[in-house]
Amino acid sequence: MSCGGCIRREFEIGRPSLPCRPCIPWFLFLCVLGVTQLPISPDILAAEPTPARKLVNSPGVLIIAHRGNSSIAPENTLPAFAKALAAKADLVELDYHHSADGVPIVLHDDNLDRTTNAQELLGKTKVLVVDLPAAELARLDAGLWFNDDFKGTKLPTLVEALTAIQAGSTTLIERKAGDAATLVKLLEQEKLTEQVVVQAFDWEFVKECRKLSPTMTLCTLSGKAANHEQIEAAAATGADVIVWNHEKLRRDQVELVHKLGKKAWVYTIDDPQHAADFIAAGIDGVITNKPATMIRVRSATKRPAQ
Ligand code: G3P
Ligand code: CA
Repeated sequence: MSCGGCIRREFEIGRPSLPCRPCIPWFLFLCVLGVTQLPISPDILAAEPTPARKLVNSPGVLIIAHRGNSSIAPENTLPAFAKALAAKADLVELDYHHSADGVPIVLHDDNLDRTTNAQELLGKTKVLVVDLPAAELARLDAGLWFNDDFKGTKLPTLVEALTAIQAGSTTLIERKAGDAATLVKLLEQEKLTEQVVVQAFDWEFVKECRKLSPTMTLCTLSGKAANHEQIEAAAATGADVIVWNHEKLRRDQVELVHKLGKKAWVYTIDDPQHAADFIAAGIDGVITNKPATMIRVRSATKRPAQ
């Protein structure tokens, strides 16, 4: 028999697939080269759960601080996020829009009236976030409306908020405005694609995120009356978690979410008894303005075996 690497006749009859002795080092070199150049299937990568998926799929109920610890600090600001971390919230939710020059800025409303001093500073009402550049937005006070203790608090950029929250918890990013590609690119640049959870009321945005990133952890949001079709459609987006307004989801519908292989969260519950009822019905996450209270409710409430 001849060697595969040269045309030399191999003496070791019976082992025709082996190279001849002079070819062995080349053969080994090519083996190593081949292994290191093999394309790694995304399925293999996806097999190891990402940190965000591990958290979302962990047993027990997750307590999620809504707009930070917003019952004791101005919502969607760095002090509210610091207080959510201090309360040991499992995740910290925030909302973002884009400034006129394309910087993602953290705040809930599309205009600046309710949570900043824009009216006073600009002499106009209903100025939209998207109408001011980031440098102008940085001049606004986002703490005074809450109380004087928070005077001087600024609107955080999304990157500033992510840096603060990821230091001690996991961010639940709610996209209010902006396209999926921009968010995915920002998360890739920050090396956070697999460390955070992203949610939106706009399910097309969720689907687009899923297309762009198979490993991102995603949630659909809904405030409509929940029904079978709606829940199935939410699951079909590719989201990991189905998040519903607590007044629009019946407790028996949690089971359907689980049957579809998804986790079920509700927003926004501050009433302990109401949270306890959902926990007893098997809910997987509670979004709340009072994370410390809800952590106590969680400890005191028996959850059914999943
Ligand atoms: O996290 C869910 C909840 O934040 C959605 O409602 O209006 O508070 O952004 P909203
Ligand atoms: Ca929100």
